[in-house]
Amino acid sequence: MGFHSFKTSLLFSIYVLSAACATRTCDFPAIFNFGDSNSDTGGLSAAFGQAGPPSGETYFRHPAGRYCDGRLVIDFMAESIGLPYLSAFLDALGSNFSHGANFATAGSTIRPQNTTLHQSGFSPFSLNVQYYQFSDFQRRSQMLRNQGGVFKELLPKTEVFSRALYTFDIGQNDLTAGYFFNMTTDEVRAYVPDVLDQFKTVVKYIYDHGGRSFWIHNTGPVGCLPYVMDRVLITAGQIDKVGCAAPFNDVAQFFNVKLKEAVVQLRKDLPSAVLTYVDVYSVKYDLISHAKKYGFVHPLQACCGHGGKYNYNKNHGCGSKVTVHGKEITLGKSCKDPSVAINWDGVHYTEAANKWVFDRIVNGGYSDPPVPLRMACHIKSAVHE
Ligand SMILES: *[C@@H]1O[C@H](CO)[C@@H](O)[C@H](O)[C@H]1NC(C)=O
Ligand SMILES: *[C@@H]1O[C@H](CO)[C@@H](O)[C@H](O)[C@H]1NC(C)=O
Ligand SMILES: *[C@@H]1O[C@H](CO)[C@@H](O)[C@H](O)[C@H]1NC(C)=O
Repeated sequence: MGFHSFKTSLLFSIYVLSAACATRTCDFPAIFNFGDSNSDTGGLSAAFGQAGPPSGETYFRHPAGRYCDGRLVIDFMAESIGLPYLSAFLDALGSNFSHGANFATAGSTIRPQNTTLHQSGFSPFSLNVQYYQFSDFQRRSQMLRNQGGVFKELLPKTEVFSRALYTFDIGQNDLTAGYFFNMTTDEVRAYVPDVLDQFKTVVKYIYDHGGRSFWIHNTGPVGCLPYVMDRVLITAGQIDKVGCAAPFNDVAQFFNVKLKEAVVQLRKDLPSAVLTYVDVYSVKYDLISHAKKYGFVHPLQACCGHGGKYNYNKNHGCGSKVTVHGKEITLGKSCKDPSVAINWDGVHYTEAANKWVFDRIVNGGYSDPPVPLRMACHIKSAVHE
């Protein structure tokens, strides 16, 4: 057997090995999610008032705590592994945590901000606070479960915590926070390592609490979002070929390089952890760059908004109303067909875009290691070697 065919057969056996390995799905009994509005299923709404109509119109037919016309990527993830949509930890009404909890809130950052929500729009539930909530949830849910009755039905079993999938989608607001406080790109880049140190700390704490499977989304092309392009001064030379603000996407990519390094470090520090890094940036940028090819229109415009180049006006957001001559008029209306829109309200993606992103990432095509969602609990994947 020549070297070439030896190599081929070796590759083949690795493939067979990994395929054999791949037949075992993880059967995650729960998802615990940490993040910002990209994965908030009702947290900020529970704490600060509901996201109003027309949010939720496409799927839920009423506002459902999501900054979207319908479902988020995390909803499609839960569905695909056979779990119910996640209740927000902060939501006292109707929540069922038997299959996980969602600690994400819109406007959350990794690092705690020194401003209130009303001053700056950033949520007080930064990642460290989401961790305190998780820790409290884990301990007290077990005490309550022991009381039996309805608590047994609404709260997870003890063994769920080590077998659950821990998902993260956070960091975008840490980057925009700097810009909104008038920092330069260099100043924003300079604090990224501190942001990621705090991220690593939280992953380690969750590991210490028994978490083993971690699914980590990188941050998206924030420079393609109307609220960034509208709010921050951008010169013509800074616009890329797609129409996005290049400096912001550069910072997002810098963050992602550092996030990937953090994940590599965590694999060394946490020997029994399985960490999957998911390149959501590339998926979203591909969608925005080739919108037409994928059946979408106006990739840089909000579907629900009010006027201007990006159909976005920060003083008249999606759903906003004004009273003219005693008559109430909705200024921030939804577009005719959200199913072909990418951007929902200038900040968030539509359900259609979220589904598209989910379909690209679910089988591991954008993951490191390239493992499907259902397999993201296996420590050594031959594919990775
Ligand atoms: C908030 O203030 C503290 C104390 O001055 C500082 O260490 C921290 O970096 C600040 N956080 C942010 C996000 O700026
Ligand atoms: C909570 O959700 C689980 C899983 O969907 C379900 O079996 C259980 O009946 C629910 N409990 C209540 C009280 O709704
Ligand atoms: C940033 O700069 C703008 C324009 O100079 C100013 O209006 C705004 O108050 C500044 N924001 C902060 C947080 O300093």
